Amino acid sequence: MSNQYAHIIGWGKYLPPRVVTNEEISRIVDTSDEWIMARTGIRERRIAGPGETTATLAFEAAARALEVADVHPSEVDLIIVATSTPETIFPATASLVQDYLGSRNAGAFDLSAACSGFVYALSMASNAISAGSSQVALVIGAETMSRVLDWQDRGTCILFGDGAGAVVLKGSSVPGGLLASSLRSDGSGADLLRLPAVYSSPVPGLDPTFSANGHPRTITMNGRQIFRFATQVVSDIVEEVMEKADLTPDDVALIIPHQANARIVEAAAKKLKMPVERFFLNLEHAGNTSAASIPIALCDAVEAGRLAPNDNVIFVGFGGGLTWAASVLKWDVTPPPVSLSQRQWRRMRYVIARTRSRLRQTGRSVSSMVSGSPTPEARMRDAERNEKKSRSKKKRKA
Ligand code: ACO
Repeated sequence: MSNQYAHIIGWGKYLPPRVVTNEEISRIVDTSDEWIMARTGIRERRIAGPGETTATLAFEAAARALEVADVHPSEVDLIIVATSTPETIFPATASLVQDYLGSRNAGAFDLSAACSGFVYALSMASNAISAGSSQVALVIGAETMSRVLDWQDRGTCILFGDGAGAVVLKGSSVPGGLLASSLRSDGSGADLLRLPAVYSSPVPGLDPTFSANGHPRTITMNGRQIFRFATQVVSDIVEEVMEKADLTPDDVALIIPHQANARIVEAAAKKLKMPVERFFLNLEHAGNTSAASIPIALCDAVEAGRLAPNDNVIFVGFGGGLTWAASVLKWDVTPPPVSLSQRQWRRMRYVIARTRSRLRQTGRSVSSMVSGSPTPEARMRDAERNEKKSRSKKKRKA
């Protein structure tokens, strides 16, 4: 063990500009602003535009977090993106972010634990820092939930939004930072909240090779059961993590919960006998952004002046899996001031990083042309040509 403590030294969020109000959703499904506000506390959410992806949202949040931390992208040695909406299973969204940032010294991977993902990722990165295998880690929660919603299902489409939040963790011998974490899972509740990716068995009536074709990959949820589960586990895990960090409720300045439903938070506050005002909520304007909700709420809490040096803050997430998790952190940062010219220069870094990335891609194409080995595109063209040939051969035989 290296005796390093993982401190948050930077934070950033990005929400797409497009706002979708409850009123707008009530023109798609049979619902109303009054119903959604009363049952969830959500008034509006952000939806990613055509040019935006989980990776671009994650990049924007990460770039802002690095700016606050005054850390150069090359200093980052670990990038974890917690997400349930990667645009591909591989490459990981984290690898795309690593490329966009130009963090050439970083390892990168995605972490899947639904709405608990950010707290899981925070704990993994903190462990890597205290074990000495990492010094500067970027932990990002990023989602484009709008792309996996059934917009005809009023039980789910009213809840979710898109966005990303990020923190920079840095190792230091000064005690503090992430004090304790608890991670939990109960796979027996897997069916209560699902988002299919690769089907485990062929869908009847379809060619097994294309088993997913024609089947929507959208979220299904048993809202009542998830509600019940969440009200039980949030208070339990908050109590557990306070005990691990040797804290009483009075020692905790702020709790930042997963932003799913204001009623879940009210129930948890009641169970914990803590004032509901000690829980930070921003879901009215951001909705449930799954793994992104806690880091986005953290940024909003800092902006609202809800965190002071030496405050103990608890992050608590829950969601699909079922999973739930909590972390206690000592908030002990004062970010250095950044001038406008420094900010502009930092943005230039990312233009340079993209240019370098494209040059590497071009270099690969040129070297495969020179060596005579085909590029991936040429290989795909050849495969298509061969498939056509064998299909017409079969037809002729028949
Ligand atoms: N508008 C109007 N009426 C609706 C809507 C809607 N959008 N949705 C459901 N209703 C109706 C139902 O049909 C039902 O009508 P009925 O009584 O005639 O049958 C009635 O409202 C009550 O339905 P419930 O499902 O009991 O409503 P509930 O109060 O439980 O609220 C909600 C539903 C908001 C989904 C709630 O259950 C909830 O928030 N659950 C938790 C979801 C959650 O936290 N997910 C987090 C994890 S996310 C992740 O991990 C990816």
